[in-house]
Amino acid sequence: MAETQSLYEMLGGETGVRALVDRFYDLMDSSPEAKDIRALHAASLKGSREKLFMFLSGWSGGPPLYIQKFGHPRLRMRHMPFAIGERERDQWLWCMERAIAAGNFDPSASEHLKARFTEIADFMRNQE
Ligand code: HEM
Repeated sequence: MAETQSLYEMLGGETGVRALVDRFYDLMDSSPEAKDIRALHAASLKGSREKLFMFLSGWSGGPPLYIQKFGHPRLRMRHMPFAIGERERDQWLWCMERAIAAGNFDPSASEHLKARFTEIADFMRNQE
């Protein structure tokens, strides 16, 4: 990744991060490939969209909106109420990889996102 630009900037700032999150949840909402993780979420994905946007904003080097509102993300702990195994991890990554691909980002930014999300999603597993 270019060192002069934050990942947040490479993604297109607020507009780009919001669009990535929207593509991700649109895919989750409409794809049979993601039906098991869709079922873990509320009927409306509005709150999920807002939270993931706020988290990714700070995570990518932009305004730390999630921490300002909710405190430390403690992501693994916050996912404990949901049974997440390999199937759920792979469905999450299926959506995210497509959402990234549709973003036309700089290839170095896309590769960085994919690698980091793969690690974080695997870390969320709480089932054999
Ligand atoms: C591994 C598969 C994953 C599954 C099945 C999953 C599922 C869920 C569900 C059901 C929720 C609760 C609904 C909501 O509040 O939006 C949630 C919340 C959240 N997820 Fe995930 N998630 C996964 C991975 C990830 C990853 C990799 C990230 C970050 C890169 C992430 C970030 C978040 C955030 C920020 C929240 C809101 C937490 C809160 O404030 O309660 N999730 N996730």
